[in-house]
Amino acid sequence: TQVDARIDILPSEPIGTIAPEIYSHFIEHLGGVIYDGVWVGEKSKIPNVNGIRKAFIDAMKAVQAPVLRWPGGCFAESYDWRDGIGPAAKRPQRSAFWDQEDTNRYGTHEFMETCRAIGCQPYLAANLRALPARDFYQWVEYCNAPADSGNTLANERAANGDKQPFDVQFWGVGNESWGCGGNQTAEEYGEAWRRFTTWYPRYGSEPPAGAEPSNRKDLKLIACGPNGDDVAWTRGIMRSITAGHLPYGLSVHYYTSGDAKLFAHGDALQFDDAHYYDLLTRSSFMENVITDHWAALGEVDTQHKVKLVVDEWGAWYGKSTELKGVPSGPQYNLSQQSTMRDALLTGITLDIFQRHADKMAMANVAQSINCIHSLMLAREDKFTVTPAFHVFQMYLPHRNAQSLRVEFAAPSITNTLATLSPVGGASAVGSTAPVPRLAGLSGSASIKDKTVTLTVVNPHLDQPLTTEIALHGMTIASVKGTVLVGQNIHDHNDFDHPNAVHPTAAATGTPSGGRLTHTFPAASVTSLELTLA
Ligand code: AHR
Repeated sequence: TQVDARIDILPSEPIGTIAPEIYSHFIEHLGGVIYDGVWVGEKSKIPNVNGIRKAFIDAMKAVQAPVLRWPGGCFAESYDWRDGIGPAAKRPQRSAFWDQEDTNRYGTHEFMETCRAIGCQPYLAANLRALPARDFYQWVEYCNAPADSGNTLANERAANGDKQPFDVQFWGVGNESWGCGGNQTAEEYGEAWRRFTTWYPRYGSEPPAGAEPSNRKDLKLIACGPNGDDVAWTRGIMRSITAGHLPYGLSVHYYTSGDAKLFAHGDALQFDDAHYYDLLTRSSFMENVITDHWAALGEVDTQHKVKLVVDEWGAWYGKSTELKGVPSGPQYNLSQQSTMRDALLTGITLDIFQRHADKMAMANVAQSINCIHSLMLAREDKFTVTPAFHVFQMYLPHRNAQSLRVEFAAPSITNTLATLSPVGGASAVGSTAPVPRLAGLSGSASIKDKTVTLTVVNPHLDQPLTTEIALHGMTIASVKGTVLVGQNIHDHNDFDHPNAVHPTAAATGTPSGGRLTHTFPAASVTSLELTLA
C-alpha cells in the first residue's frame, strides 16, 4: 500500500490529564438562545421539563456537558440577578444588551434547573460593569449559603423554591472588560478585580484546624482575559491583580471569522475552497493563543497555578447566514448554519485543547444552541443537532485520559487565500505571531486504562490520506473507529434533514504489534479507539 502520511504516538511523553471541562458550554440571552432555544415554558406543546426544551436537555446529556456558562457574555454586563428571581409574573421586563428586551422569565432558578436536568456544573458570570461588588457577593450568598443557616438570602432562595444551596463553584468576574464590559484598561480591570475578590462568602468546607476562616473553600474565580491573542492585556491585568487574589482561570475569547480580514463575516453555507482552507487555518491559530497566553501568565505566575479557560470559541459568520426558510428576525440574531467545515473546525479546536491538557482548565463553545458555533438549532417545534454536535460526541473517550504527544507528517496544504491574516477582525488584536500553516493532518491522542484514543482531522478537500500509525512501545489488540464525513464540505443538517450529516463506523485495518495502517477520508474527522493487548 502506498502510504501518504505518518502518525507517531509517544506514550513515554505524557502531557497532562484532559479536563472534561474543556468540552463545556455557554448560553446567554442573545437571539433565540434562551427564549425558544432553551426555555419554551411549562405550558408549551414543545416537549419540556419544567419549561426547559427536552431536546436541548437530551442533546446536552448525550455530549455529557460538564459545565454550562450563563448569563453571558456581554449580556451579563447589564444583568441584575435580582430581576430574575421570585414569582415570574412580578419580574420586571428590562431592555438589555444586544438590543433586546428580557422578560426575566428565565433567571437563576431556571438556570439551575437546566443544569440539574443536564447533570452539569453551573458557571455564573458576575456583572462588573454596571453593578458593585456587593451584588456579586450577595449573588454568591443567594446561591451558596447553607439551608437553615438563618441567612436572609438563603431563606429567600428557599422561599423561591430551592431550599438546598446551588453550590456554584465557577464564577466569572466580568466579561470582555476590554470591550462590552466597560472598555476598561488592564489596570482598571485589575483594580476592579481586587475590589470584587478581596472578600466574598466562602461556604462548604471547614478551615483546617488553626487556620484563618478565610482558608475555607475558595470559589473558582475566572478573570477576564484577552480578546484573541492580546498578550498585552494579560500581562497588564496579571501585574495588577496579583496584589490581590490569583484567579483560578483566565478567560480567553477567540472566534474565527468567515472572512480573513473582518470580524463576524463570511457565509456559513456559501464558500469556496480557498475560504474553506483559510477559515481552518485561522482556527488553528488557537494554538498560538494558548501558548502565547500560557507564556504571558508564567511571567507572573511562575508556578502556573492559573489555567486557561477559553470560555468563548467558534466560527462566527455574517448576518446573512442566519437560517433560511424558518422564522427569523432579531429574536434569532446570530443564529447560523453549521456545515462539515464547522465540524472540522470543531475537531481542530478540541484537538488543540487536548494537546495542551496541562494548560487548559475549561473551554465553552459559543454557544450551545441557536447562536454562532452551535451544537443545536431550534425554532419552535423544530430541532436538529449540527455536525459540531457529532464531533463533541466522538471526542468523549478523551475525557479524564492522559494526553500523549503525537507527531504528524502529511502533505501540506497550499490552497489558502493569498490575503490570509492570522485571525479575523477584532480577534487579531495584539497578535505578533507568524501565520501558522494548516497542518495536512492534525489531531491528538490520549490513554486511559487499556485504551488509546486517537482523533484526527484530514482537511484536504480531495485527498484521502493512507497513514501509517505507530503507537510506540505498545501492542494494539483491536481497533474501533468512527468517522464524520460528508459528500460535500457544505453538507449540513436542517429541520427537514436532521440526519443528513452523522457519524458512521470507520473501516479499520488490522493492527500488527503497535502499528496500524488507516485511511482518513478527505475532509473528515475520525476517532480511533485502540485497545491495548
Ligand atoms: O457569544 C456572543 C458574544 O461574543 C458574547 O456575548 C460576548 O462575550 C462576545 O463578544
